[in-house]
Amino acid sequence: MLKHLFTPLVVGEIKTANRIWMAPLTRCRAGQPGDVPTELMAKYYAQRASAGLIISEATQISKEGQGYAWTPGIYTDAQEEGWRRVVRAVHEVGGKMALQLWHVGRVSHHLLQEGGKPPVGPSAVRAQNTKCFVVLPDGTAAQVDPDTPRELSIEEIKRIVNEYAAAAKRAIRAGFDLVEVHSANGYLPNQFLDIRANQRKDRYGGSIENRARFVLEVVDAVCEAVGRKKVGVRLSPKGVFADMTVEGSLESCLYVASELGKRDIAYLHIVEPNWAGGQSLTDEERKAFRKTFPYVLTFCSGYTAQMAEMAIASGIADAIAFGRLFIANPDLPERFRRGASLNEPDPSTFYGGGEKGYTDYPFME
Ligand SMILES: Cc1cc2nc3c(=O)[nH]c(=O)nc-3n(C[C@H](O)[C@H](O)[C@H](O)COP(=O)(O)O)c2cc1C
Repeated sequence: MLKHLFTPLVVGEIKTANRIWMAPLTRCRAGQPGDVPTELMAKYYAQRASAGLIISEATQISKEGQGYAWTPGIYTDAQEEGWRRVVRAVHEVGGKMALQLWHVGRVSHHLLQEGGKPPVGPSAVRAQNTKCFVVLPDGTAAQVDPDTPRELSIEEIKRIVNEYAAAAKRAIRAGFDLVEVHSANGYLPNQFLDIRANQRKDRYGGSIENRARFVLEVVDAVCEAVGRKKVGVRLSPKGVFADMTVEGSLESCLYVASELGKRDIAYLHIVEPNWAGGQSLTDEERKAFRKTFPYVLTFCSGYTAQMAEMAIASGIADAIAFGRLFIANPDLPERFRRGASLNEPDPSTFYGGGEKGYTDYPFME
């Protein structure tokens, strides 16, 4: 029995039909030129609308915020219109959807940047052991090392905070129910939190309060733009993806969680480190988030239906997000309900391409 997973949940101003959320999943299939959401993307998301809440793939808030070819944006009219069609398709079949707001910071390459400039970061510290995905001048796609970033000035930080707010406004105008500030997995807000990526000596670096300043300014600007009840945040305590440091990470994420708790936002979404080679969080660590953040709390990474049911039954989580299982199983909640077998995801079709490995995973008979 998965009673808890199938209990509706109030998230900000909406009610989700169940607590089985679809995690944000980059699929690199946006229309070109212009990184515009397509009809195929609308079909993919609508297929998965039985999730209590779909969180969109990470979506860059500006050209500067892009670190991989063919990821969608939310900073042009064409992108907004493309997303409007996606969300309409999801709503038409009864789904709910959040847009994940994304700035990759230093995890980018000059081939993805306007005028071939270097990417930006809190400090000029290059990300190691991670790749960007670019289209080379000869038209072939390639995985490349990120460039050494250029340190952001205070003025530029203000500009980026405003870009998050503008992108959030576009998302809500396009029909999204919520937005999620992506402060996980080694991208710009996470880089500010990180003790190695952030070497700043000003008010954005050093102490936990200073390292958390950027993400909290972003959250405040987004709340101001669209209303706090439409805002979620994703954090990755102890995450190692994209060269993040385990040391100090739990403490800084708990600090951010406690600050978010004061802000009465819609939800907090914790990605556990195990999906990218780190260790799972302990129950103790999960409970620390529960204690710190009094609103809807979601965890993600390596969960099965039974683990999710237990996490919710125990009171640690309100919902659980599933990533790879949703890639391969468009009807995941129904499969869970019936205890049916699951399709296996095919990693070779995760990023880029067309229908294969995207909209052709079979539904149950
Ligand atoms: C193909 C793929 C793309 C992903 N893209 C994103 C993304 O755009 N934003 C994000 O926050 N996490 C992203 N993640 C992490 C997932 O949201 C999720 O946390 C991870 O897959 C662990 O959950 P799972 O074990 O249920 O798959 C991605 C993971 C995969 C496998």
